[in-house]
Amino acid sequence: MKKTLFCGGLLLCSLALGAQEGKAALDVMLKNYGERNYAAEPVAKADLDLIVQAGLRAPSAMNKQPWHFTVVQDAALKGKVISGAEKGGAIIVISAKDDTNPRVTLDCALAAENVYLAAQALGYGSRIYTGPVSDVNKKHKAALGLPSGYNAVILVRIGVLAKAGTDALSGASPRNAAKDMVTYK
Ligand SMILES: Cc1cc2nc3c(=O)[nH]c(=O)nc-3n(C[C@H](O)[C@H](O)[C@H](O)COP(=O)(O)O)c2cc1C
Repeated sequence: MKKTLFCGGLLLCSLALGAQEGKAALDVMLKNYGERNYAAEPVAKADLDLIVQAGLRAPSAMNKQPWHFTVVQDAALKGKVISGAEKGGAIIVISAKDDTNPRVTLDCALAAENVYLAAQALGYGSRIYTGPVSDVNKKHKAALGLPSGYNAVILVRIGVLAKAGTDALSGASPRNAAKDMVTYK
């Protein structure tokens, strides 16, 4: 009897914890925004590893996982990839071989979203970039050491927030209202 009660208690506890974790994940999604201003501090290596793990867990068409993740911490190289990004933080360049295939682009975008949200879940700021992609592919592939035949598809900048306490209300661009964007049938 005691054992049954104990097991039941454990189950309830783990269900409650699961629900809390689900809420925390939803909270990150609902409060996300693309940070532009970062402090000059690095991102802890253990956190970068976790963030990359989140990228690697992204779903992909037929589970092809076409991506490669290049984690850039070198100040000069960061500045070449995104102008003004020399100090602090890191840039994750997501590249792929068949980068003009729309499915590959979507896969890389999903990996980027995972990286972007994982960074914010850990309390960092992050922002997705495609603007610099063409320059990266023209000028910086060798310096980045992208795998042979790979092209950059999308980048995510991650860093310690310059201003603590920024959230979706104070930091994010406004979003359109659900009533204008969503149809239920
Ligand atoms: C696919 C994609 C490409 C983006 N490219 C850039 C970019 O090149 N430069 C930039 O400053 N922001 C870029 N962004 C960030 C968006 O501009 C930003 O997420 C959007 O304006 C919403 O603003 P907020 O995240 O601050 O609320 C990109 C976002 C996505 C999803």
